[in-house]
Amino acid sequence: MNPEFAGGVFSAAGAEFADWYARLWRPLGELTVAVTRPAPGDRVLDACCGSGASAVPAALAVGPSGHVDAVDAAEGLLAQGRVAARGLAQLAFTQHDVLTWAAEPYDLVQCVYGVFFFPDMDAGARRLISLLRPGGRFAVTTWRRGGMARIVPIGQAAAATERPELAESVDRVGAQARIDTPEKLTTWLTGLGLTDVTVEEVEFVQPLHPDDAWKLYLGAAMRAFLIGLDEPAVARVRERFTAGLAEAGVTSLDCGSLIAVGRVPA
Ligand SMILES: C[S@@+](CC[C@H](N)C(=O)[O-])C[C@H]1O[C@@H](n2cnc3c(N)ncnc32)[C@H](O)[C@@H]1O
Repeated sequence: MNPEFAGGVFSAAGAEFADWYARLWRPLGELTVAVTRPAPGDRVLDACCGSGASAVPAALAVGPSGHVDAVDAAEGLLAQGRVAARGLAQLAFTQHDVLTWAAEPYDLVQCVYGVFFFPDMDAGARRLISLLRPGGRFAVTTWRRGGMARIVPIGQAAAATERPELAESVDRVGAQARIDTPEKLTTWLTGLGLTDVTVEEVEFVQPLHPDDAWKLYLGAAMRAFLIGLDEPAVARVRERFTAGLAEAGVTSLDCGSLIAVGRVPA
């Protein structure tokens, strides 16, 4: 996704993204920081920060002597983050394409459910890594195989009847599939020049009511499948999506994730 498009989709998704914040984005953001462990005084970039799920705990960890730049293309999510972060002077939310972001070198760059949106995932990750100081750390959180990636194709198929061109497009899921096991993620990060790569696997399964599944559709990148559709068409997509989940036996949301950290040479 190009950054402007991603920013537009996620800003439009703001209300439903917020509905899932407490159940999904916040706990996984907290878990990411429990793994990345920024130290007091660190400079951190939270790339693709959304509404601050991992940026806020990072800011609490670095404390007043540190600094967190939380950067995202979606102003609608950043506005939610600024409200959540009131009082944390060390946390700055900025709307920007993170792939053209420039700043003083960081101790830690973390990107939570973001790298697979970059038009070129490798080039994007390299760009983020270039913002680190020597010896600095790069962290990526992504969906594990068999979880979220099962749902997106069902959502895509549900919309493809209305927008046949969608049947052809695979970009994000394709990028996710390149890094959806600990082995693949380790190989990818090592290939980008990182050392001491570790990957933590997180189990995170929860009930998924069909109404909440639809909110997830509207509150995340699947929302892009609905662009240009009128209300009756969206209603048909919802029906097909709900039926598709039932047919595939998806009655719970498996948000199993991988949290990886590696280091650039000192
Ligand atoms: C699935 S959301 C995750 C948000 C947040 N990290 C979280 O876990 O709650 C992905 C985010 O990536 C952002 N994004 C994608 N490409 C971007 C880019 N090139 N520059 C800035 N933000 C980008 C989107 O706007 C969206 O907010």
